[in-house]
Amino acid sequence: MMIRITERFVRLAMVGSTVLVAGLMFLFSKSDLPAVTEVTNPVQDSLTPLEKPPEDQTYMGTKQCSACHFDQFMEFRQTKHAKAFENLPEKYKEDASCLECHTTGFGEPTGYKDSTTAHLAGTSCEACHGPGSKHGEIAKQFADKTLSKEEELYVRSTIHMMLPDNACVKCHKSKGHVPHPPYDKE
Ligand code: HEC
Ligand code: HEC
Ligand code: HEC
Ligand code: HEC
Repeated sequence: MMIRITERFVRLAMVGSTVLVAGLMFLFSKSDLPAVTEVTNPVQDSLTPLEKPPEDQTYMGTKQCSACHFDQFMEFRQTKHAKAFENLPEKYKEDASCLECHTTGFGEPTGYKDSTTAHLAGTSCEACHGPGSKHGEIAKQFADKTLSKEEELYVRSTIHMMLPDNACVKCHKSKGHVPHPPYDKE
């Protein structure tokens, strides 16, 4: 009986000191971490993930995105989306009623306009992910290193995995009840 109780005390003491040591290590290791506020970014001074991506972003075009997302680009370029503009018969390449669905961000201030904005022709990255200028800017701060989990989650929060409001259906009405607008195939 006596032996058991002593054993228990010894164990308790051991657990207690382990907790103490772990606590101290935690405190010291914490003070070794760089202060989060040292990271400057155009949106806020912490790595707390944003509730939703910043709204006032401008369109950058596929090339800019692909510099950091090469694998996604290689997949994307095999899809019909990559050729959605190219495949328009010549006489429709300036027809607003077609460009609305065959280009990216048509009608928006920084979206596709004409041949001077060729980087936004077709259903490019930002047609599904939304404009990503700030996402790109923010990601650039970490471009020369492997991102920590915290940094990655923060960068991810600055762009949509998929635009809300069913962005596909904005263009793919023709697979619902609305026929594709008629056009001359040439
Ligand atoms: C300077 C590099 C850089 C640029 C430029 C960039 N990204 Fe990213 N992006 C990242 C990093 C880093 C992540 C975090 C995930 C990872 O490590 O792949 C990320 C994550 C994402 C995600 C995932 C979002 C989520 O919810 O998880 C999407 C989608 C994305 N980027 C799309 C784009 C698009 C579209 C563009 C062009 C407008 C773009 N990115 C430009 C570096 C970049
Ligand atoms: C900005 C308009 C737009 C958005 C947004 C869009 N698409 Fe498309 N999509 C098109 C156009 C235009 C084509 C036809 C391109 C061509 O054939 O030249 C197409 C083609 C396709 C095809 C190939 C169809 C075929 O006949 O082979 C699939 C599949 C597809 N889209 C799925 C999707 C999905 C899923 C989403 C959402 C995640 C989406 N699209 C978002 C415009 C869009
Ligand atoms: C509401 C969006 C929308 C508009 C507006 C639109 N398209 Fe499309 N277009 C699509 C989608 C989505 C596809 C993919 C196939 C499908 O769903 O019918 C497509 C496919 C095509 C294709 C490829 C067809 C094939 O056989 O691969 C051509 C060419 C085309 N459209 C031309 C035009 C022309 C020309 C106009 C203007 C007169 C136009 N589109 C207007 C959404 C649109
Ligand atoms: C037709 C819509 C569409 C287009 C166009 C598109 N994406 Fe995506 N993307 C998606 C969807 C949906 C997902 C989420 C599912 C997945 O992971 O594949 C995604 C996921 C991603 C991710 C996150 C991958 C991960 O595992 O975290 C990145 C990064 C990305 N896309 C970059 C791009 C880039 C760069 C382009 C242009 C070269 C592009 N996307 C074009 C719809 C699209």
